[in-house]
Amino acid sequence: MNIPIGIFLINFKKKMKTTGNVILITGGSSGIGLETAKLFSQKGNQVIITGRNAERLEKAAAQLKNVTAIPGISAGQKMLKGW
Ligand SMILES: NC(=O)c1ccc[n+]([C@@H]2O[C@H](COP(=O)([O-])OP(=O)(O)OC[C@H]3O[C@@H](n4cnc5c(N)ncnc54)[C@H](OP(=O)(O)O)[C@@H]3O)[C@@H](O)[C@H]2O)c1
Repeated sequence: MNIPIGIFLINFKKKMKTTGNVILITGGSSGIGLETAKLFSQKGNQVIITGRNAERLEKAAAQLKNVTAIPGISAGQKMLKGW
């Protein structure tokens, strides 16, 4: 009967550290990626966002603290083949 409680405690201690990290978010100029970048930057992380459209990416990074934009990174079907 003690085993489930022990497992719970072990998992609880392994919680992810969500501050002070360097975080790379692909597709960070809009949608889910941008919202995730906002949350992590507010929590004191250094965030790097990527996307294809440089203007949109720079605009997204400019409105956030500790966010760096790296444009021109593209994923295509050819690149993803074999995954
Ligand atoms: N929104 C939802 O409720 C939802 C639910 C479940 C799953 N999803 C999935 O989650 C992903 C993101 O959704 P979202 O609504 O946040 O989409 P979104 O607003 O269109 O954002 C997509 C992001 O990915 C980048 N991107 C698009 N195509 C790319 C490519 N070929 N290579 C590199 N970057 C690319 C875009 O920037 P650039 O165009 O400048 O490259 C943008 O930053 C999608 O795959 C979507 O199907 C979304």
